[in-house]
Amino acid sequence: MTEYDDPYRTSGRHLDIMIRGWWDHHGATVAEALRALPPGSGPVVDAGAGGGHGTRLIARTLPEAEVLAVEPSPVLVAVLLARVADDPGLRTRVTVDGDDLLAADLPDRIGGVLMANLIGHFSPHERDRLWEDLAPRLAPGAFVLLNLPEPTEPAPVGRSPMGEVPVGGRTYTGWARAEAAGPELLTWHMTYETRAGDRVLSSDEVRYDWWTVSEAALRAETAPYGLAVAPHGPAEAGLYTITREG
Ligand SMILES: C[S@@+](CC[C@H](N)C(=O)[O-])C[C@H]1O[C@@H](n2cnc3c(N)ncnc32)[C@H](O)[C@@H]1O
Repeated sequence: MTEYDDPYRTSGRHLDIMIRGWWDHHGATVAEALRALPPGSGPVVDAGAGGGHGTRLIARTLPEAEVLAVEPSPVLVAVLLARVADDPGLRTRVTVDGDDLLAADLPDRIGGVLMANLIGHFSPHERDRLWEDLAPRLAPGAFVLLNLPEPTEPAPVGRSPMGEVPVGGRTYTGWARAEAAGPELLTWHMTYETRAGDRVLSSDEVRYDWWTVSEAALRAETAPYGLAVAPHGPAEAGLYTITREG
């Protein structure tokens, strides 16, 4: 088995506060989809859970559900575990698994899977392995809920702000830009700054690969495993459910 190479080794400490804006904007649409999961059908998996915004949303939206949060980045596991352990409503129902999703020992029966802001970390070959592995585990009526972030083709993205989050006497800011790196591959370049007023206290530059997936490609690659793709919510959310047919 190959060693997991953590793309969030440096940026993990910034991710949770930077991605909060996505959850503020799309959390209600995600929750609405989650409410359609079949109750009592096995744990709901938060795949690539990061610091646990989605994990917490699953647990609060489905108060009877067991949640399995799979997150391989050690720095993000620390954030996730602290978030879960601090909340009595999560602590008894959420299990944190520090594995790579491709190597995780998932339950035979799963009540649903959330993959928020995750899919581009998997190559086409890895996604193929994922669909093959997940399809037979999905309980009747259960689905994978994921988003296909823009761009879904490898088009360049000019430098744009990700967020600016004031906390106490510091402001945490992120910028992102991307360039095509192959027919289905982007390279993202991120800058994360910590400022006190106008003074820059630290600046981290990171880059990582992101495999683009279009809706058409998602349909084509999941169909062989008896999975059906349907859009969910407003198009700008880029959310899709992937349900086992029959
Ligand atoms: C952009 S973050 C999104 C985090 C979280 N889902 C959210 O939306 O707040 C992507 C996450 O996927 C995780 N990830 C990357 N590769 C993974 C893999 N092979 N298996 C499981 N998680 C992975 C990263 O560690 C990171 O936490």
